[in-house]
Amino acid sequence: MTKSIYTDYFFDEPAYNTHDGGYVPLEEPTTPEQPLRIPPLLKPDKETATDTYYTVEAQAGETQLLPGKKTKTWGYNGSLLGQTIVFAKGKTMHIDLKNSLPELTTFHWHGLNVPGPYTDGGCHAPVYPGKTRHIDFKVDQPAATLWLHAHPCPSTAEQVWHGLAGLALVTDDVEAKLPFPRHYGVDDIPLVLQDRRFHEDNQWDYDADYDPDGVQGPTAMINGTINPYFDVTTQRLRLRILDGANRREWRLHFSDDLPFTQVASDGGVLPSPVEFTHLMLTCAERAEIIVDFGKIQPGKTVTLYSDDVPLVRFRVHDFAADDVTLPEHLVDIPDPEVTPDTPVRKVVMSGMDEAVMMDGKKFEMQRIDARQKVGNVELWDITNTNDMDGGMVHPFHMHGTQFRVLSRNGHEPYANEHGLKDTVGVNPGETVRIKVWFEHTGVYMYHCHIIEHEDGGMMAQIEAYDPDNPKTYKLMDMDTLMNAIAEERGIDVKDLRLAGMSSYEKMGMKM
Ligand code: C2O
Ligand code: CU
Ligand code: CU
Repeated sequence: MTKSIYTDYFFDEPAYNTHDGGYVPLEEPTTPEQPLRIPPLLKPDKETATDTYYTVEAQAGETQLLPGKKTKTWGYNGSLLGQTIVFAKGKTMHIDLKNSLPELTTFHWHGLNVPGPYTDGGCHAPVYPGKTRHIDFKVDQPAATLWLHAHPCPSTAEQVWHGLAGLALVTDDVEAKLPFPRHYGVDDIPLVLQDRRFHEDNQWDYDADYDPDGVQGPTAMINGTINPYFDVTTQRLRLRILDGANRREWRLHFSDDLPFTQVASDGGVLPSPVEFTHLMLTCAERAEIIVDFGKIQPGKTVTLYSDDVPLVRFRVHDFAADDVTLPEHLVDIPDPEVTPDTPVRKVVMSGMDEAVMMDGKKFEMQRIDARQKVGNVELWDITNTNDMDGGMVHPFHMHGTQFRVLSRNGHEPYANEHGLKDTVGVNPGETVRIKVWFEHTGVYMYHCHIIEHEDGGMMAQIEAYDPDNPKTYKLMDMDTLMNAIAEERGIDVKDLRLAGMSSYEKMGMKM
């Protein structure tokens, strides 16, 4: 059987962010190469056969990113980004979420199937400075690369930009039996792709760089490393890649078009491996790929690029031969039947800049936009109306579920979209049909994952309900949050400026 190797990016070239007026091209750093930072694994406070206890602390600090002055950064259990948290399927997690920052934040588990809206950690679950919130949940989903990020309305984008993003890896027995590299830090490596602009004294300045279509910077930052290299000591390397940027799409390929194999997407392992030379990720998407250096001479370097800008240099050393071949079939993906007589739900993402909307509205914390019965399986059509300036790709993300992608404008989805997903890039003028079901009751947000679009109101929320067990939720309101932030900053609430606000004001709306 001949296998295809996919050599294009799968997205409409005219929709690349390179065509956006505000596009900030990446530039190759001129600073010395640095060893790639590998986020350490977070040590549990306590662990039993059935339960794991963690403390996750959001904190401010300083990080040596460039020669000279350290950069003021935020992170989880460290000064920048996070320590990697392992969630073993079947175990119950008990997590203390501690906020040591000067302002309120939330701890959102992107991709984790847990009850909303509090455990999920969206805008309704603020943790005020100096306070701790406790959550418990049972891990009940397949092995996957998920992530933790701040999600307070309306300053998600700014807090993520400061560095509040970490990885959470779900492990299970199914994935453990597959012939994948899994020695964390050696042949199983996370790559959190972000971009920043360094201002005077090596500092970040979110306000100075603000763009309602998403903040970008010319310098790639990978796991919080500028200009990284990685020493390859095994023939095969597994890379868990996360687009952790506020806005940037990554168009990935290796030097000499070295092929690589994608084995997992957002929600876990793919039904079968897919071979590529080029791969595009939009905001918040994950791809786990296996790179085989078998044909590379020790001493050589293989470079990972986005477009033509180097991101990571893989320095290949001696390695033991590893002739493992991946099976054609990796895992079975759940594919429940659509519940009879349920209409197709329509979701419309429209606009650019401050005009972004979800279904012609901007997000409101106290408004529930849709309801779906837990256990029902429904079709959702997500349309990007492309109604301004040629449009842009909007990465559509849902909390509280992993969905299946069924079609793009009626055609087969991309070859790497046959697994579980929580984020899907919707091209301008396109309708992506997905199949959605919820396992837990709760109120969940769904939104564009260009984070400034989300803060700017391209977001809505759905209640997943159980008719036999109706619930009411205490939903946050903007005044409470704004008053709290103003107080934390020691200013009058009238003088409070938060990035997403301008998107509401310019449209004559109140946040
Ligand atoms: Cu990455 Cu609303 O989430
Ligand atoms: Cu999320
Ligand atoms: Cu968007």
